[in-house]
Parts: sequence; structure tokens; C-alpha cells
Amino acid sequence: MQVERLKLNYFRNYESLRLAPGGGLNVIFGENAQGKTNAVEAVFLCAFGRSHRTPRDAELISSGMSGAYVGLDVMTRAGSRSVEVKLRDGERKQLFIDKAACERSGELMGVLNVVMFSPEDLELVKGGPAERRRFLDMELSQFRPAYYFALQRYNKALRERNALLRPEAVKERTGEALRRELYVWDEQLITLGADIMQRRAEFIGKLAAIAARLHREISGGRESLALAYDPNVKPNGGGLEEAFADALYGGVAEDIRRGYTNSGPHRDDVAVSLSGGSVRTFGSQGQQRTAALSVKLSELELLREDRGEPPVLLLDDVLSELDELRQRALFEAMHDCQSFLTCVSLEGLKRAGMDMSNIPAFLCKNGTLTAV
Ligand SMILES: Nc1ncnc2c1ncn2[C@@H]1O[C@H](COP(=O)(O)OP(=O)(O)OP(=O)(O)O)[C@@H](O)[C@H]1O
Ligand SMILES: [Mg+2]
Repeated sequence: MQVERLKLNYFRNYESLRLAPGGGLNVIFGENAQGKTNAVEAVFLCAFGRSHRTPRDAELISSGMSGAYVGLDVMTRAGSRSVEVKLRDGERKQLFIDKAACERSGELMGVLNVVMFSPEDLELVKGGPAERRRFLDMELSQFRPAYYFALQRYNKALRERNALLRPEAVKERTGEALRRELYVWDEQLITLGADIMQRRAEFIGKLAAIAARLHREISGGRESLALAYDPNVKPNGGGLEEAFADALYGGVAEDIRRGYTNSGPHRDDVAVSLSGGSVRTFGSQGQQRTAALSVKLSELELLREDRGEPPVLLLDDVLSELDELRQRALFEAMHDCQSFLTCVSLEGLKRAGMDMSNIPAFLCKNGTLTAV
């Protein structure tokens, strides 16, 4: 996959940008706060319909302006596609695929596959379960749009069920009425939740196999990395729906007491361990970095296998965080990908042994990109 054209109007600090990137590595370099991350954020926005750093779309519009536009053309195995995002202050964003308006943001999933590497990836192993669920949800969604739709419906049903569990709502109803109303949402949660758990288990299984292999290579055979799905609802040998139903029905009293739904895939986690010990608690900084890199590289590998073509890579500020061995692993993995790499200066790349003579490099300055 390859972004052929990127066009921005009043996006962040870009007033107007027209970029025709190369098919391999593209370097965006410049001082702090000039717009490097903003540029990769725009590509990310076209892949997921949302920013990787803010849930508030209004922040993406240049300050003082009432709207913004991001558009790109991507060449895929299936032909050329265009993705456009139109933002208007105070209105819902509009997404267009090949000029046709999307009714639902999920339609965008998988049109442009992107893997983003950033220093925050460390949170994948260092952070809490919510970080890992976020990773799972994003990556699975771009693999399988059906997952995204199931997740959206699950979250909606969960919000409705939790609204019924709030003390004010509980007080307003008889015990029987409450249980009857909860039951409606329980049924939806069980069907959708089981589907989500099933898909997560499969995805993590595939990811784990690749991550173990890659990590062995990057660590020179010294460490073994294991990823394992750690679902909140344990199947206990039976079916997923049955197990989730048992947890929901058995937990009603507790849910009412606490005022929210205690069991379900919204409490899932992924266990990440190195040679048997949890990376989160026992790993050194370096080990955590390598583990995070292995997980992201596995995502890249899995997308490549599944799609039959490599995704587009966004590498924001990551090079300086990696030692030579890990840099090499990254460069090797991205040999056939189009990538956008941001850094402060070209010196680091030259030091990493990169021959810059044939690599498009753009100097980023105050919301402009100039080819050098
Ligand atoms: N909505 C907006 N309107 C105008 N300018 C904005 C908007 N949002 C962010 N900016 C500006 O964009 C700049 C930050 O851009 P960005 O995060 O891309 O920097 P960067 O080049 O990646 O820097 P660093 O090297 O520190 O990561 C800041 O100067 C910020 O004020
Ligand atoms: Mg930045």
C-alpha cells in the first residue's frame, strides 16, 4: 500500500499542504513544534477516522478557522482509492471513500492499513490493561471491520446497561423491573461479547506466534517473548456465551452495588511476559522497549500476510529511542513498505548507516514541508 498524494487544508498548523511522497522511506525532519507529528497524524486520521492523540476533532482544525480538510490517494493491490476527512467546527466529521460519503466510520477500516510506531508504544507493555485493549481494538479493527462494528455495538449496549445500574436509575425501579430491563442488554452483550472474545483470542494467538519469533531474532536468541490473551470472562472449558452469561447473571447483585458492569471483554487484558516473568513488573527499560517493538513489528507482519501487501508505516520520533540492533530490526522489517519517518535532524539517520542520497527528505518548518 502506498500513499500517493496527501492534501491538507487548515489541518493543525498546516494552512495548505500538497505532498507527493515516495514509495519507500520518506523522512520528515525539523525542529520541535514545527508540524512533523501533525503530518503523520493526518495519514493516521485517514486510516482510522480519528487522531492517534486526541478524541476531540475540533483540535485538528487550525486555530481561528471553522473547518479543515484532509485527503489522500492510496494505491493498493485492488487499485487506487481516495479517502477524505472533512471537519467542521461544532459538527460531526464527514468521511468519504472514493468521493462517496460514509454513513459509518467503520466503513473506513482496512481501506488504508497503517502501523504507527511512536515512543508511546512503550505503554503497550508498561501501561495498564486499557492501553493494551486500545491496541487490540485498533489493530483488530483494521484487520476485520466486522470487529469494529461488533465493538461499537457492544460499547453502546454496555453504556445502556451501566446507565441502568446508576444509583438514581436503580432507585426509580422495582427489583423485578430493573432485572427485566437489564436482561435486554445482557442478551446483546453476551452475543457481541462472545464474538469479540473469540476474535481477540484468534488475533492474539496469531500475533503471539510472530512476536515470539521476531523477539528471539531481535534479542539474539537470549529472550523469549510470550503474549497471551487474558480474558476477564474465563471460558472454563465451556462456550464463551455460556461463560459470559453466567458471569453477568451471577454478578447482578454486585453490579448493582457498584453501579456498573463488572464482567466482560471491556475488562480484558493481554499478558506480556519475557522468559516467564511479566515484562511490566520485571522488565528493564530496554527489555520493555524491545518487547513493545516486537509486538508492533508482529502487527506489521500479520497485516502483510493477511492483506498480501505491506501496510504504510508511520514512525514518529522512534529512532532515537532504539539502539543499533533494534534499529536494524526495524529497517529490515520495513524494507518493502512505504514509510513516513519523523526526526529532528538527518544526522541520526546517517549515523545509523542510512544512505540518504535516494531518500526523499522534507524539511518541516512552521507548517510547511520542503523537499531538500
Ligand atoms: N489546531 C491547531 N492550529 C494551529 N496550530 C496547531 C494546532 N494544533 C497544534 N498546532 C501547532 O502545531 C505545533 C506542533 O506540531 P507537532 O506536534 O507536529 O510538532 P513536531 O514537529 O512533531 O514537534 P516535536 O519534535 O516536538 O515532536 C505546535 O506549534 C502547535 O501549536
Ligand atoms: Mg512530534
